[in-house]
Amino acid sequence: MIIVFGNQKGGCGKTTNCIQFANYLAYKGKNCVVLDVDFQKSIVDRRNQDLENFDNKPLYEVIDAEMNDVAKTIADFKEINDGHLLIDLPGRVDDEALITILQNADVVIVPFRYDRLTMDSTALFIKIMEYYKIKAKIFFLPNNIESSVKYETKEQVKEILKEYGMITDEIPSRVIMQRLYTIDIEKKAIEVVSKAYDCIIENAGIQ
Ligand SMILES: Nc1ncnc2c1ncn2[C@@H]1O[C@H](COP(=O)(O)OP(=O)(O)OP(=O)(O)O)[C@@H](O)[C@H]1O
Ligand SMILES: [Mg+2]
Repeated sequence: MIIVFGNQKGGCGKTTNCIQFANYLAYKGKNCVVLDVDFQKSIVDRRNQDLENFDNKPLYEVIDAEMNDVAKTIADFKEINDGHLLIDLPGRVDDEALITILQNADVVIVPFRYDRLTMDSTALFIKIMEYYKIKAKIFFLPNNIESSVKYETKEQVKEILKEYGMITDEIPSRVIMQRLYTIDIEKKAIEVVSKAYDCIIENAGIQ
């Protein structure tokens, strides 16, 4: 399966959840590969740092891909690998290659928060997927949710999002989510993400 983490909103947790999801799949014994097409190369950098700091063998591969080569990279992957390809998108979708990725996706995971600014960008991302008739199953992942904040428009937002995809359990704001490793799986992080990720795994039929 091709599983894409996307949203127009910068800093909503695409990279964080892409890595945590890969860790979670690996923890569950599932085969996955992470494709970093973001020009920031935060996952590739993270992996290189982890390779220096840890002795353990990585549980999944991280591929450094250029946005312009992505169609070929996906096609090559599908030919040789029957596992899952996780793709971390940059925070903007105005590029033809990004549309190609979305058109190839089986699952799109959209991290978001219930505040106004995040919702406006998320709405734009939904409109783009609608315009290009993206067929992927969409999961809206409430992420970085502060228990002390009352999100005034939460119920209203949920009603709208439900029309486009499934809203998963929430991932709270936790420091452990900021300690991202691509080699070492933190049990505490697994506890934070398990409900939301299980919901995606079950409903998307990720084997
Ligand atoms: N559940 C969470 N709890 C605490 N911090 C979080 C959580 N999710 C994300 N963050 C933090 O929020 C910041 C932005 O996250 P991240 O880099 O994953 O977003 P992004 O969507 O990939 O951003 P960009 O659009 O720049 O690629 C990071 O500092 C990350 O550690
Ligand atoms: Mg990112």
